[in-house]
Amino acid sequence: MPGQSIFEDKNIEEVRAFWNARPCNIRHSDKEKGTREYFDEVERRKYLVEPHIPLFAEFARWRGKKVLEVGCGIGTDTINFARYGANVTAVDLSDASLELAQKRAGIFGLEDKITFYRANAENLSNVVPVETYDLVYSFGVIHHTPHPASVIAQVRQYMDSDSVFKIMVYNRYSWKVGTIISSSGFKFWKLDELISKNSEAQTGSPVTYTYTRKSIKTLLTGMTIQLIFVGHIFPYEVEAYKRYRYKKTWYFRLLPDKIFRSMERLWGWHLCAEAKIA
Ligand SMILES: C[S@@+](CC[C@H](N)C(=O)[O-])C[C@H]1O[C@@H](n2cnc3c(N)ncnc32)[C@H](O)[C@@H]1O
Repeated sequence: MPGQSIFEDKNIEEVRAFWNARPCNIRHSDKEKGTREYFDEVERRKYLVEPHIPLFAEFARWRGKKVLEVGCGIGTDTINFARYGANVTAVDLSDASLELAQKRAGIFGLEDKITFYRANAENLSNVVPVETYDLVYSFGVIHHTPHPASVIAQVRQYMDSDSVFKIMVYNRYSWKVGTIISSSGFKFWKLDELISKNSEAQTGSPVTYTYTRKSIKTLLTGMTIQLIFVGHIFPYEVEAYKRYRYKKTWYFRLLPDKIFRSMERLWGWHLCAEAKIA
């Protein structure tokens, strides 16, 4: 896979420290952290900016089913799987993320529907009992671990031929990567380093791989991909967005919505796939 080796020697503790310092989406609300109002706003904002997530996750499809979420972060999708009646096992590397996710489960009265584990997904079976799940779900996680293929090998242990695996990883041929490379003065020889530095809301992610429609097939070796699509271009002015205002960047304001949606399907940042064991 193109340029993927620069992250192989990264220490998982560096990854954990990065996500502990600022769990994913933690600033999606300025309400008091850990309150119902805070979590409601985090969810509203996440699904407003990333409306493809509920469509991809299909929360209602998993009612009464077993869901294993790898990399739950602060639990936005986790809560929704549980709300819709799934029995969820949620795993993350980051203690700070898990603490909020667990608090969230309590606030919404869903503790009984979710079991949380702190684990490195590269060694999942050392911590999470191996049993078959109907759905293994991992959104925006596996590209942040030094050895993504190890996670996939672990995930397979929790699947049988009926299980579904839904995964989102970052898309290399994306608008986002285009903006990263152009704002660096087109330093293509440093592309992976630059992507990693700028992939998240906070700079300096230690590991951020990107994938193409071809290389995700290699990652998912032994699985049959049943659905694959690309989505999500962030259209808002970042400074206004940080102040909870949704003002599109001028060139996106000029684009008809239909064209913007077509661009997302071509150059979106999120490469989403649904797969089953072959
Ligand atoms: C971008 S966040 C996504 C969180 C969540 N899926 C969401 O969509 O809000 C990435 C998450 O992956 C977790 N993560 C990264 N590497 C991991 C690993 N090896 N094992 C478990 N979790 C990991 C991080 O701690 C972080 O919470």
